[in-house]
Amino acid sequence: MQITRSMKMADMIHMNYLLLPIISRFNIKLGCGDKSIDQVCKENSIDVYFFLEIVNSFHDKNYFPKKQLQGFPLKLIVDYLRNSHEHYLHVKVPYIEDLIHQLLLDSYSGNTELSTLINKFFNDYKSELEDHINREEIKVYPYVFAIEKAFRSKKPSPDIIELTNKYSMDDFIHEHDNIEDKLFDLKNLIIKYIPPPEDIHLCNTILIELFRLEADLNDHARIEDKVLVPKVKFMEKWIYEHVLQ
Ligand SMILES: [Fe+2]
Ligand SMILES: [Fe+2]
Repeated sequence: MQITRSMKMADMIHMNYLLLPIISRFNIKLGCGDKSIDQVCKENSIDVYFFLEIVNSFHDKNYFPKKQLQGFPLKLIVDYLRNSHEHYLHVKVPYIEDLIHQLLLDSYSGNTELSTLINKFFNDYKSELEDHINREEIKVYPYVFAIEKAFRSKKPSPDIIELTNKYSMDDFIHEHDNIEDKLFDLKNLIIKYIPPPEDIHLCNTILIELFRLEADLNDHARIEDKVLVPKVKFMEKWIYEHVLQ
């Protein structure tokens, strides 16, 4: 069932609670009463059409309106991606880290070897995720805005070609690595190899959080690969054809 602007915000959450972190990313607070999605978005100065495309593509994996999403301003797309990064690094990962420390303390405090191994798997994953995000924040997003500025100027100068010679969307495609392998290894370690913990509920909570993080990251990468990349590549192509000689 597709989410529409006339649907009540509360009904959307009842329909799919996994959308809660997505809603927070738009800075929408709970307490929305019976207000429609349209009303809540208006009150929070959010582009309702962008909001709908994002929640629908997260809600239904078969719904991915590439063309519509590419039509939104770059700033809207990058702001959303940046808010997602913020959520992964400052909310989700520290939360999972605390749960893992709690599990190690409760169930494996006498097993230093196992504690070291689980910490190593988690820390390796965390630093890979941090490197991935930092590269996008420091290198990729500033680059896409420079391209957009040159594209909007309608008179791109040769300097921009110099910039694209150093780094372009093709480089991003090439280096936009998949960070799921280490997450898969961590989940597998917990599912298959560690001795059954005393607190099975805590262990399940960690696994569920890891699966949710994975689904969220996949959706995020899909927006980068299928929306951001083609949009910027289109502008790069236009610039190559129109740069002032
Ligand atoms: Fe990202
Ligand atoms: Fe990424």
